[in-house]
Amino acid sequence: MKKVKILIRLVERNGNTPCHRGHQVGDTFDFDADRGKLCPMAFHALFPYVDILRYGGSVPPSKDGRILVSCPDAETRNIFEIIPIHEQDSDLSDLATFQQTELILWQKMIEIYSAEDPAQISHTQSVVDYTQKIAELEGLEPHRIFLLKIAAILHDIGCPAARAVSGKSLPPMQEKEGARIAEELLQPVKAFSPEEKSYIVSVVGSHHQIRKAEELHFEPLFEADLIVNLLEGYYDRTKAAFYREQMVHTEAGKKIFNLIFQKDLH
Ligand SMILES: [Fe+2]
Repeated sequence: MKKVKILIRLVERNGNTPCHRGHQVGDTFDFDADRGKLCPMAFHALFPYVDILRYGGSVPPSKDGRILVSCPDAETRNIFEIIPIHEQDSDLSDLATFQQTELILWQKMIEIYSAEDPAQISHTQSVVDYTQKIAELEGLEPHRIFLLKIAAILHDIGCPAARAVSGKSLPPMQEKEGARIAEELLQPVKAFSPEEKSYIVSVVGSHHQIRKAEELHFEPLFEADLIVNLLEGYYDRTKAAFYREQMVHTEAGKKIFNLIFQKDLH
């Protein structure tokens, strides 16, 4: 029987006492390579779940579909997400390379925006977070979610260049400049195949276009950008019902949209 690769990510901490082992939210462990770095108490709590999953079994998921396990420390309960990676998901053998790639591109994004429009950094961060959550709730496989996260980090990267060229950042110009810049930034990246790089560039270069969102399956990013643009006042909230009907297609996107804009929907 084929084993399943297991990633363990610390996603939440409850309680005010610091973790005695020093784990931080966001820490991610490859069970095969890093289990010695995990707190032994947390390891004991996680192990029954991990052992079932790595041999192809299943465990009851949490309400949001994730597999969440709490460490037993009563004062500081770290919540871990267990992420099973099936072989067809992707080759995640070099997890550190993926994490490093995300961090480098995130830093490039900050450098590009900070000189011209720092508000775009928090816009981007919000879009990245909503993209990830919608994609996870929709049950997309982890590597697909990772590619969408990278595209979300870069989605508006053409705005400063579009403003420099034309004085505005209207969608056609920012998509054109965004695709060009994304291609340049991704060129030296070794973590992605040429097809994956081309996919990310295509998403950046068409991220306002709903038909492209359907064709390239980046609805989570498209819906995330719509939600954040409405929240930030770039789009008219009185037309929230119209936007929902015309542009929000995923079940997760609809649920989130309905909650956030419940006062604006008629
Ligand atoms: Fe955006």
